[in-house]
Amino acid sequence: MADLDQVKGINARQIKLLQENGISTAEALAMSPHSTVACIDGLGDKTAKKLIWNARNALGMTDFTPAAKIDDNVEYITTGSAELNRILGGGFQTGKLTEVYGPFKSGKTALAHSISVTVQLPEKKGGLNGAVAYIDTENTFSKEKIKRIAKRFELNPNDVLSKIYHARIYSSDHQSQMIQKAETLCKTRGVRLIVIDSLMALLRSEYVGIGKLAPRQAVLNHMIHGLSRIAETYNCAVLLTNQVATKMMGMFSSNDAIGGNIVAHGCHFRVMFKTKGFSSNNSLKRRAVIVDAPDLPPEECEFFITGTGVADTDKVDLPESSGLDFKIETLYEEDDTQKDQDTEELSNDEVPLTQVKGIGVGTVENLHAQGISNISELLAADPEELSASISGASVKTISQWQVNAKLLKNS
Ligand SMILES: Nc1ncnc2c1ncn2[C@@H]1O[C@H](COP(=O)(O)OP(=O)(O)OP(=O)(O)O)[C@@H](O)[C@H]1O
Ligand SMILES: [Mg+2]
Repeated sequence: MADLDQVKGINARQIKLLQENGISTAEALAMSPHSTVACIDGLGDKTAKKLIWNARNALGMTDFTPAAKIDDNVEYITTGSAELNRILGGGFQTGKLTEVYGPFKSGKTALAHSISVTVQLPEKKGGLNGAVAYIDTENTFSKEKIKRIAKRFELNPNDVLSKIYHARIYSSDHQSQMIQKAETLCKTRGVRLIVIDSLMALLRSEYVGIGKLAPRQAVLNHMIHGLSRIAETYNCAVLLTNQVATKMMGMFSSNDAIGGNIVAHGCHFRVMFKTKGFSSNNSLKRRAVIVDAPDLPPEECEFFITGTGVADTDKVDLPESSGLDFKIETLYEEDDTQKDQDTEELSNDEVPLTQVKGIGVGTVENLHAQGISNISELLAADPEELSASISGASVKTISQWQVNAKLLKNS
């Protein structure tokens, strides 16, 4: 990333004006449309053109590059669900805009909360060690939810909250303003994820009727292009949640994302979330469908919304107490009497791994995927190796499972 003072012919006043308008690096300037820079009070048409050209020259953007030399710097953020990661091509991608749309309670806000935590994980655990800019237009951000998810991933809840820069938004021009501000956070606070939950809620209520469609789309276009530029400049992931409108086609109806072609074309990845139908209204099961992606097949998967974020199962294992002064609600009660009876009749290696304290159904699936299906195999595993292949399980947690497994074996 190059500072603005690297741009030939720029002065301190111009740097300040650009920074005040959310353009904090030479890259951001080089990627800005001329009209955006020219309308900054105090710059003007000619200066804008000169500065943008000089920024592009300084960054070598005025030459074609052989394709072999193009940087392939995509990074991935785990969503908390291996299945969702799989259909997304490895996780939530950086450098691109991802739109997630779906009906109410389909899990959009749950995903936003989950990745706001997982982006803070170290790289080997599926994160980017990054901070978050959270643009909340619906007043649905929840500190408690973040704390629970942090606990699941063995992060300190207060540290996690201190790296989520939250803005409650009240109007569409406030939304545009804070998108610009988010750019500064990318530069100064290491933000690697921008969440807008939701993109269209305020625009939808402010621009009502067909007569307002053109101005609404102009504002939206500006937001989408601004975000796209920020995503690319800072290799930052962007989640845009979106609402749906029901479209009737004769006897049939379908849910379509709102925002029209501007959103459809402007977002690189479009993912639809679905609830599982009326019969399972109380189910936590959800479905995700890849609707559009540059290099991903149109796959689908199931995932769950849990009290500790998005997951592959409704029974997420919580790590052993990590000494945090935070109490988590008990989501899944275990029946100890039943456990004792079951254990008595089975030999050690027939005892299901779920009987080991701290291991639940989700972890058992993960352990099976690593070739561990009984207590002896768990005891023989190397905690460090295992930790690297199971998201959210630290070396400490795995060592604790082994201690608990040994206790169970000897009991
Ligand atoms: N602690 C929890 N444990 C399990 N499920 C939960 C928990 N909290 C919320 N949910 C489920 O998540 C749903 C809400 O999901 P979410 O807020 O992500 O939906 P959304 O797609 O953002 O909806 P909207 O369009 O209304 O914003 C709830 O209706 C409930 O089914
Ligand atoms: Mg929501």
